[in-house]
Amino acid sequence: MNNRILAIESSCDETAAAVYTTKEGLLSNEIYSQIEQHAKYGGVVPEAASREHMKKITIVTQQALENAKMSFSDIDTIAVTSKPGLPGSLMIGVSYAKALAYASNKKIIGIDHLEGHVFSACIEHKVPFPFLSLTVSGGHSALYLVHDYGTYEIIGYTLDDAAGEAFDKIAKLMNLPYPGGPVLEKLAQQQDFKDFFNYPRGSLKNLNFSFSGLKTAVLYSMVKQNAYNLKTKTFLKNNDKEFQQKVSSSLHVCIGDIFENKIKAALIQYPNIKAVCFVGGVACNKYLRKRLTNMCDQENIQLFYPSPKLCTDNAGMIAFVGHYKSQQQQFSDQNLSIL
Ligand code: KG4
Ligand code: ZN
Repeated sequence: MNNRILAIESSCDETAAAVYTTKEGLLSNEIYSQIEQHAKYGGVVPEAASREHMKKITIVTQQALENAKMSFSDIDTIAVTSKPGLPGSLMIGVSYAKALAYASNKKIIGIDHLEGHVFSACIEHKVPFPFLSLTVSGGHSALYLVHDYGTYEIIGYTLDDAAGEAFDKIAKLMNLPYPGGPVLEKLAQQQDFKDFFNYPRGSLKNLNFSFSGLKTAVLYSMVKQNAYNLKTKTFLKNNDKEFQQKVSSSLHVCIGDIFENKIKAALIQYPNIKAVCFVGGVACNKYLRKRLTNMCDQENIQLFYPSPKLCTDNAGMIAFVGHYKSQQQQFSDQNLSIL
């Protein structure tokens, strides 16, 4: 049977819609990013995000149908991100999807945004099960052991800040724009990703992550080097590009080491793992991709990562999960709410 899914994603600051079918796979993946609206505040403003979703959701959905060369009547099932995320933002997407489903008598499925990220590498690649998924975004850092479509367990999670959040917060410390990841990557490139400051790699006792400690370590290293005044909370090296480059470069090496160490430890703990997936917004980072590719080559295991548009928040990954859930007959109903 050809299942045709329309997916809607509005959990944070991207309004997105996509179409996925059994026969043709991902046919469209439309994203309206609100980054410009939030950049001036140095992070996402929840109230403003909800209003933008409200404005854009219809147009983005129409665009996704148009690019898939479909009309709404061709769609069988509507998949929508229902958790986790900013409540006001999630509510826009879920209410919109419920109204569409109700008015057209179509099926609806609530999707976990993180499940979307976990399986995002499977959209473009045939990834063998069981695989290990390193899911690293602005809100989450976690290691999942994935047994099958929709069957997975978390084996390492973030105790505090996410990896993307560490990039964003450290960029903010240096008065650099949001989101910090891509900005710091460009700066680090100028120093060839060398390690200058040897920031702490954290505990290897288990598979959990702690990036808040890393942020604090970077802050105190800056204080020691007279680059940051703790009392006035001001960065003192705004005009010293080289210093900013060295911080960015050292941070990349440190985060690369942390990811490598955790994956290696997981591979020892779970020797039946057949592949590794690197997903989420931070997986856009070319240096980190290369580090993990080299490491997986040495470990003789294949590494998969999605193309950048499927790494950062998107509805394509929600459509993909919606598709296998519809095949598994796992539907929601009009009681669907947000979590
Ligand atoms: O997956 P995503 O779009 O949203 C969440 O679900 O959180 O991830 C956004 C995060 C931000 O923290 C951003 O700084 C980070 O992904 N990011 C990057 C890069 N591009 C985006 N981090 C490192 N290097 C990049 N090139
Ligand atoms: Zn995300």
